[in-house]
Amino acid sequence: MKILMVGSGGREHALIKKLLESDRVDSVICAPGNGGIACDAECFPVNVMDIDGMIALAQEQAVDFVFVAPDDPLAAGMVDAFEAKGIKAFGPSALAARIESSKVFSKNLMKKYNIPTAAYEVFSDSQSAINYIESSGKFPVVIKADGLALGKGVIIAENFDAAKDAVKSIMEDKVFGASGNNIVVEEFLTGPEVSVLAFTDGKTLAPMVSSMDHKRALDGDKGLNTGGMGTVAPNPYYTKEIAQVCMDTIFMPTVKAMCSEGCPFKGCLYFGLMLTPDGPKVIEYNSRFGDPETQVVLPLLETPLVDVVEAVADETLDKIDVVFSDDSCACVIIASGGYPGSYAKGIEIKGLDENGAVDGATVYHAGTKLSDGKFLTNGGRVLGVTARAETLPEALEKAYSATEKIYFEGSHKRTDIGKKALDALK
Ligand code: AMP
Ligand code: GLY
Repeated sequence: MKILMVGSGGREHALIKKLLESDRVDSVICAPGNGGIACDAECFPVNVMDIDGMIALAQEQAVDFVFVAPDDPLAAGMVDAFEAKGIKAFGPSALAARIESSKVFSKNLMKKYNIPTAAYEVFSDSQSAINYIESSGKFPVVIKADGLALGKGVIIAENFDAAKDAVKSIMEDKVFGASGNNIVVEEFLTGPEVSVLAFTDGKTLAPMVSSMDHKRALDGDKGLNTGGMGTVAPNPYYTKEIAQVCMDTIFMPTVKAMCSEGCPFKGCLYFGLMLTPDGPKVIEYNSRFGDPETQVVLPLLETPLVDVVEAVADETLDKIDVVFSDDSCACVIIASGGYPGSYAKGIEIKGLDENGAVDGATVYHAGTKLSDGKFLTNGGRVLGVTARAETLPEALEKAYSATEKIYFEGSHKRTDIGKKALDALK
C-alpha cells in the first residue's frame, strides 16, 4: 500500500512512523510535512486546505489510501472530496466533523441525547449573553466561541468584568473571526481531565489507551493555553470502572447520536473528559487524533495501525481486535521561545542526528524544516521527545534525559510533565 498523510505536525509524524511499521505499507508520502517527516516520507508542498491540490497529488502518486489528520481540512470536507473521487480516506465527513467544528452543534447533540456535559446556553448576540451571565451570577463561567479557533476559543472568566470583556472580544471585536458569531456560555466544572481517543467506523467503537495532556505553557499549569506541552499515557485517573461508565454513558451514546442525526462518525473521535464529582462529563469532542496525545498513544498500539484505519474506512471495525500494551509512554514538547505568543523561526536545532533523531527516545518533529542538511525551527511546538517503558517514572526519565541532548536558542519545555499523573499513582 501507498498512503498519503495530510498534515505537518508531531501527530502526523507519529502516525507515519506507526503506519510504516507494517509490512503491508510500502511507503507513505506527506503533504506538506516537515523536516523530520521528510526523513520517513517524501514530502510535497501542498497546503492542507488545498483540496483540489491534494486530490491531484493523490492521483499523480497513485496512492491507495489517504489519511486526513488536521481539523480544518476535515471540517472543509476533504474526506468527502476524496471519496467522491473513489479514493479511500480516513477521517469524518464535513457533516460529522461538526462535532468539533461547531460547539453549538456538539452541545445541542449532547443535550438531545442525554450525554453528560456542562450545563450551557447558546447566544448569537453579545448583549443577551452579558445579561444572562450577570443574572446567573455564577463565577467562574466558561465562554466558548462556536467555531474552530486554534484551541484558543475557550475563556474561563473569574468575574463579571472578565466575562463581559470575553464576550465582547469574541462577538464584537471578532478576535476569532466568524468562529465567534455564536457563543456557548457554560457551567465551570472541576475534576481531573482525561483524553480518550477512539477508533470508530460509525457503528463499532474501539477506545485507545487514555492519556493526559498538559495545556498550559509553564510548570504548575501556569501561563497561557497552548496546543499541548506534553502528554502521558495511560492516565492513572481513568480506572477500568470509569472507562466502563464512559463507554455506556458517553462513547456509545455519541456514536448512536451521530447516526441518528444522519452523519455517522468515521475516523478518530477524541473525547475530552472531566471526571467531576457527579461522574465523567464531556468538555469537548475533537474529530481527529489529538496532538500531542497521539505521540503517547500510538507507541502503545500493538495491532497494526494500517489494519485498524482500513477497517474504519471499510466499516469492519467489529472484525478486528484493537490491542494496546500495558506499558507507559511520555512525550515532552520542546517549544520555541515566546510560544504560544510570537516567536522566531529558522533557528538551528543542535543535537539531532542526520535523521532528526537522538538515542534513547523517539523524536517526533512538529515545527521543523530541513535546510542544507540542518534542522531548523519552523513553528511554535518544535519537537515531541517521546519514550516508552514498563512504568511511567521510567518513561518520563527516558524522555527527559533525551531532551537534554537537544538544544536551540530560546527553546523551552515544561519540567513537570507527568507530575500530576505520578502524584495520582502514589
Ligand atoms: P477546550 O478547547 O474545549 O478543550 O477547552 C480548553 C480547556 O478549558 C479544557 O482543557 C479545560 O481545561 C477548560 N474547560 C473547558 N470547558 C470547561 C468547563 N466547562 N469547566 C471547566 N474547565 C473547562
Ligand atoms: N491536545 C489537544 C488537541 O489536540 O486538541
